Amino acid sequence: MQPGMVKKMAAEWRGTWALVTGASSGIGVALARELAAGGTHLVLTARRKDRLDELAKELTTKHGVMTDAFTADLADSDAPEKIFDFTKEKGLEINLLINNAGFGQYGEFPSIQKQRLLDMVQVNCAAVVHLTRLYLPEMVARRHGDVLILASTASFQAVPYISTYAATKAFDLLFAEGLAEEMKSFGIRVCALCPGSTESEFHVVSGQEKFKRRAEAAEKVAHQGLKALAAGKSYVISGLGNYLGAHGQRLVPRRLVTRIAAGMFKFGKK
Ligand SMILES: NC(=O)c1ccc[n+]([C@@H]2O[C@H](COP(=O)([O-])OP(=O)(O)OC[C@H]3O[C@@H](n4cnc5c(N)ncnc54)[C@H](OP(=O)(O)O)[C@@H]3O)[C@@H](O)[C@H]2O)c1
Repeated sequence: MQPGMVKKMAAEWRGTWALVTGASSGIGVALARELAAGGTHLVLTARRKDRLDELAKELTTKHGVMTDAFTADLADSDAPEKIFDFTKEKGLEINLLINNAGFGQYGEFPSIQKQRLLDMVQVNCAAVVHLTRLYLPEMVARRHGDVLILASTASFQAVPYISTYAATKAFDLLFAEGLAEEMKSFGIRVCALCPGSTESEFHVVSGQEKFKRRAEAAEKVAHQGLKALAAGKSYVISGLGNYLGAHGQRLVPRRLVTRIAAGMFKFGKK
């Protein structure tokens, strides 16, 4: 990616504050780096404080932007409120909210720990709704602001052996698309970024590294998302192959698509 291209596009948010959840790893780090290169100030949040502090320091040193790090576990239902209070107390006006934090878990549904599944729904869905509901009213009042939500190519069909995750990502996509239409008249852009397999810690965390092989770079994925948001798109699928896969299967009966996905994802297959 050309440095000039990064600067031109990320300058959309120059001099304003963005909040990035899941900023301790993968796509979240790439989003924060690209925004900082474009002069955006950043609030970084995740659970791993050391990583957040390190990234905050890097971005300030390298790009001269202001940064703040706030540690929060989004599996706690009151975490979004704590993040919101933190930015309020600091007097930070969030112009771009990036709901990026998320995780999946491969395996046969009954064998996955119940709490892990419930936490997944909380982090991937409830926290996204909660944070968006907290920050949107200010954006509406200002008639200005943007929201980027991490969905996935898993949003477009059921995916056996990671069924709960795929369902949370379908939720994220539909939530973003609906909101994008609702918020258009207030000058607010909302976009769902739908990556396919991407280089990050996702595969290790979810317990299935099989799909790492054809993974896109997190930097490329992050750039696609910010570009689509700036262009006013309600969703974007990163990568042509992923785009064709997500849309091509619409012509195939849903049950067959699910069966094919089951064959690809069958737990234990390497
Ligand atoms: N990588 C892929 O192949 C892929 C494909 C499609 C969509 N996505 C989506 O992209 C987003 C980013 O994932 P990634 O690929 O960058 O994976 P990653 O490297 O594992 O990063 C996930 C981020 O989410 C944060 N997070 C996880 N659980 C959290 C919790 N309970 N509270 C607060 N933060 C939490 C993690 O921070 P801490 O652990 O420090 O809390 C980390 O910063 C996710 O929404 C994922 O669903 C990824």
